[in-house]
This record gives sequence, C-alpha cells and structure tokens, in this order.
Amino acid sequence: MAEIVAAAFTSHVPAIGVALDTGHDRDDYWRPVFAGYDKAKEWIASVAPDVIICVYNDHATQFDLTLIPTFALGCAARYRPADEGWGARPVPEVEGHPELAWHIAQSLVLDEFDITIVNDMEVDHGLTVPLSVMYGKVDAWPCPVIPLAVNVVQFPPPTGNRCSPPPTGNRCYNLGKAIRRAVESFPKDLKVVILGTGGMSHQLQAQRAGLINREFDNRFLDMLETDPVAATRISHTEYLREAGSEGIELVMWLVARGALDEKVETIHRFYHVPASNTAVGHLILENASAKAAE
Ligand code: DHB
Ligand code: FE
Repeated sequence: MAEIVAAAFTSHVPAIGVALDTGHDRDDYWRPVFAGYDKAKEWIASVAPDVIICVYNDHATQFDLTLIPTFALGCAARYRPADEGWGARPVPEVEGHPELAWHIAQSLVLDEFDITIVNDMEVDHGLTVPLSVMYGKVDAWPCPVIPLAVNVVQFPPPTGNRCSPPPTGNRCYNLGKAIRRAVESFPKDLKVVILGTGGMSHQLQAQRAGLINREFDNRFLDMLETDPVAATRISHTEYLREAGSEGIELVMWLVARGALDEKVETIHRFYHVPASNTAVGHLILENASAKAAE
C-alpha cells in the first residue's frame, strides 16, 4: 500500500525563491534562512519520497474571484510555474501523479470530503518555494508532486459579506486524516511525504503590515509537535489577531499534520525572523509508527 511517512512544514515567502534564483542565498541577510533548510535537503534525500503531496495556497494566480474552491486537488500530469508579475521563476515544471491524485480525489468524495478536481493549472510561489527550500536548485524536481490548493485569501471581508472564509483548522486537520485514508487505500507501494506550507505570522497590508509574533509562532510549532488537536481549536479571529491577516495560511499546516499519527518524532525545527516581512518557520515530523517499523 502507499503510505504517508512524514510531513514537512514551511513558510513559502516569495523573496526566498527570488534570493535563490538570483544567487543571493549565501548573502549575510539570507544565509541564516537557507542554513535552516540544510537539514531539509539532507533529510529529503535520505527519505527519497516517491510522491509529494503539497498543501499550499494559490495567491490569486490561478484562481481569482471568478472561482474560489475551498480545496482543489491537482490531478494533472504537469504544472507550469506561474508568471506572478516578473516572469515565471526559473524552476522546472512540476510533474504530477495523476494515478494517485485521481485515487485520492475519488476516495475523498466518497469519504464525504467533497473536493474540486483541477486538470489544468499553473502553480505560484506557494508551491514552488517549498520545493526550492527542500531540494535547492535542481534541473528537475526529484519526484512527482500532487498540489492541494486551499483557499485562504480574501479574509476578513474588505466590505460587506462578500468574502470566502478559509476552512477552519479543524476541517483542515480532518481533511489530512481523509487524505491519509485515501493514500493508504492505494494498492501500489509508494512512499509519500506531505508538505504543509504558508505562514508563519505575517501581515502584508494595512495598519499592521509587518506584524510578526514570535511567541504565537513558537507556541504553534510546539502544538504541532505535541498537541495538534489543541492547534485545531485556534479560531480564525485568533489567527488574525495573533499572526496577522496572512497568518491564516497556517491552517494549511493542519492538513499535513492531520495526515500523521498524533504522536510523532521531531526530526528538525527551525524558526527565523525576518525573511522579507515575515517570520519563517520550518518543521519536519515523522510518524513514530514508521520509525518503529524500520
Ligand atoms: C509574502 C507573500 C506570501 O504569500 C507569504 O506567504 C509570505 C510573504 C510576501 O509577499 O512577502
Ligand atoms: Fe502566502
């Protein structure tokens, strides 16, 4: 059967991608950020997953106000890196895994977790920056990737009630459990790693632009390690108040966390401020059961 053996969590700050693409990753400013991912590169090379499921959000690149799926699963064979205004990042195309992706889509719907199926989409920094921090500069991504886009934009509403609330952390956590059931019912042997991306505390606009909350971020990392259910109880208002308007991206980490056992082993934890105008967080967790079976 296929199995989710581990999860890696990381911010997806676009400036990290630009720093790598333009050769500034070892500058004084960026060195400490990239140093925090040295372990990730070593770890992912040793795990060598057959497939990655990447939980990320589109930033009004592929989806705009004409179509706002809460959860959208990529079932395509490939995904082009998007042009986000300065040309597409010089990173490889992302190869998908249609066979596993379609299996997950069917399993989720029949498991009463309705999901939007996407067969043609471009992927923005939300997906490509996490691949870059895990793998560095490569000519081809080492394994296929299944994108799972979560709606976390346009909240709170600018005016009136025309807003599309992000799913709750609890819903995301339960989706992770459903994804695990889906993967484990796939008949072929595949080693799967799930990525939870976005966050940590950051606000990109208005009066509180530049907000960073180290205390909240570290508490969130603690909860992911030892008490994920407590993290599922964080309300949207609390994310907004404590982690800023874009801190709501952290609900996506709960999808990846839900796909693991409740008890996990921490392989790596890293936190750094600042990167651009955000806090950067990174965590690698392995299923304790997978460890015991080694
Ligand atoms: C920025 C954008 C993001 O999507 C994010 O998650 C963090 C930072 C930015 O534009 O700096
Ligand atoms: Fe983002």
